[in-house]
Amino acid sequence: MVEQGGRHSRVVLVPCSFQGHITPMCQLGTILYSKGFSITVVHTQFNSPNPSNNPEFKFQAIPDGLSDHDISSGNILGTIALLNVNCEVPFKECLAQMVKQQDPGDEIVCVIYDEMMFFSESAANQLKLKSIILRTTSAAACISRLALLRLKAEGYIPLQDPMMQEPVPRLHPYRFKDLPISQLGITENYLQLIINSYNTRTSSAVIWNTMDCLEQSLLAQIQQQYQVPIFPIGPLHKLSPTSSSSLLMVDTNCITWLDRQAPNSVIYVSSGSVASMDKKELVEMAWGLANSKQPFLWVVRPGSVNGSEEIEVLPEGFKEAVGGTGCIVKWAPQKEVLSHDAVGGFWTHCGWNSTLESISEGVPMICRPCFGDQRVNAMYVSRVWRIGLQLENELERGETEKAVRRLMVDKEGEEMRQRTKNFKEEVKLCIGEGGSSYNSMNNFLELIKSI
Ligand code: UDX
Repeated sequence: MVEQGGRHSRVVLVPCSFQGHITPMCQLGTILYSKGFSITVVHTQFNSPNPSNNPEFKFQAIPDGLSDHDISSGNILGTIALLNVNCEVPFKECLAQMVKQQDPGDEIVCVIYDEMMFFSESAANQLKLKSIILRTTSAAACISRLALLRLKAEGYIPLQDPMMQEPVPRLHPYRFKDLPISQLGITENYLQLIINSYNTRTSSAVIWNTMDCLEQSLLAQIQQQYQVPIFPIGPLHKLSPTSSSSLLMVDTNCITWLDRQAPNSVIYVSSGSVASMDKKELVEMAWGLANSKQPFLWVVRPGSVNGSEEIEVLPEGFKEAVGGTGCIVKWAPQKEVLSHDAVGGFWTHCGWNSTLESISEGVPMICRPCFGDQRVNAMYVSRVWRIGLQLENELERGETEKAVRRLMVDKEGEEMRQRTKNFKEEVKLCIGEGGSSYNSMNNFLELIKSI
């Protein structure tokens, strides 16, 4: 490997264009940069990351061909399918140009692409560059998505109402309702996405934002099916604490509000960057929170209520009723919030980043998954790891209030908190010297240095 000016060669990163995917890719970039690699992030124009968050990286936009209608449709699978068609040629041209113009000592050593951006691989192949896949969702999500292919072939899909509570054959501990699929069935886009994103094709390795202390047996199961090595190197956010990649403006005032609250008293409420709910659900959630009398910090993101961009989606009289007990923001510094002493619980949609961030800080969860892998993560949190409870029925204020109190006040919640704190310690061991993620990261670095 060539080194020049203290830097090794360059790594090209291709994140998928959504916050929950951009974040772990930028965290990986920060880690690789700290190990001496130069970083170029190739990204779509849609949801383009803010370069000032990572001035040490080079950013290169490629045309994505998405129309305003594609972007506003909210059809994430459709958008990802379109990106894989529209970006293939622009990416090839961009990568070829980068190779042509590269300086000696700054050669591209490999392309690392998000599992959903599989168009990247053919460009890398054509230019004889190695490619590596970054998986930004859980190993459990991978296994359950692959199981969907089998269940479809066996005639279980579309799922029928009476079977939702039943266990899935040969997929313990899932019930049909835990599967990452809507009850309507499985679209062609989703099938193709599963097939393409979990196929390793000609990639040299798979790196995974997860860790052995959570998913060792699942990872071992997957490794048996893969010809290439898997490196579980997570949780990436703990290895790159300064990395920031928010697409929305962060409101840090809530930290001052948290500073005034008692330890473990606040329930933090957020549904990530894409999940949304209908107005009726939000109203029930709001009154359930208020009636619990527990302090809460609530992220009401623009667009988090179907068909509305306003924060005033909150019910009339709600803010007056809660007064200083509640703090409402459009976007929070989530990692800082979860590590704050005042936060004792997290009402989450169970996106994989949020799940990892909560576990790493020892914060137990109320799980309210919306779609896809979130259901799988919620099942693991509530029924396998037993560090949270899942709200499975239609949201209703009485149930909501009860759930908040179960987690924040009752003995049951305290036991979950203790188990989550045990996981926090295990995460520390994983990333500490000699831990599984630490060793995996070193092995992965050896691999790219040997290319
Ligand atoms: C999406 C999918 O929905 C999720 O299921 C998948 O696992 C990853 O991609 P998203 O829904 O945004 O992600 O959820 P999540 O994975 O939890 O990522 C959200 C990120 O935004 C987290 O890193 C979180 O810290 C950050 N965030 C969220 C903030 O910084 N501030 C907020 O107010 C809310």
